[in-house]
Amino acid sequence: MLVRAGTVADYDELKPVLIDYNDDRIAVYKFQDQFFAYLDICPHQLGPACEGLIVGNTEADILPDKTVKEFVSTEKYNIACPWHGAEFDLETGKWRSDERYRLKSYRVEIIGNEVMVDTL
Ligand code: FES
Repeated sequence: MLVRAGTVADYDELKPVLIDYNDDRIAVYKFQDQFFAYLDICPHQLGPACEGLIVGNTEADILPDKTVKEFVSTEKYNIACPWHGAEFDLETGKWRSDERYRLKSYRVEIIGNEVMVDTL
């Protein structure tokens, strides 16, 4: 079933639009002209994962002198659960620390200017 989640114009980059569907809440994100939708339930302890911050992914480069330089990515982002800080890849929903766990994702379809979430 397709559920309306506003229009494309309602979306700012990396700011979720939350929609209620039955007894659940779904968060829809726009990032680089793509849309991603996740159930707002954290696989860790069922916290409201999508109501936390969006943070750049912490990455590292190994320098020629073999030292490691960490930096915060401006290209890859995570959804950080507000309860215990688990971070999920914004583009896949996978938990960065353990990819066996992920946010439940939904397909998003743009019909005209309408953002539609497929809840099946
Ligand atoms: S409930 Fe989300 S990190 Fe614990």
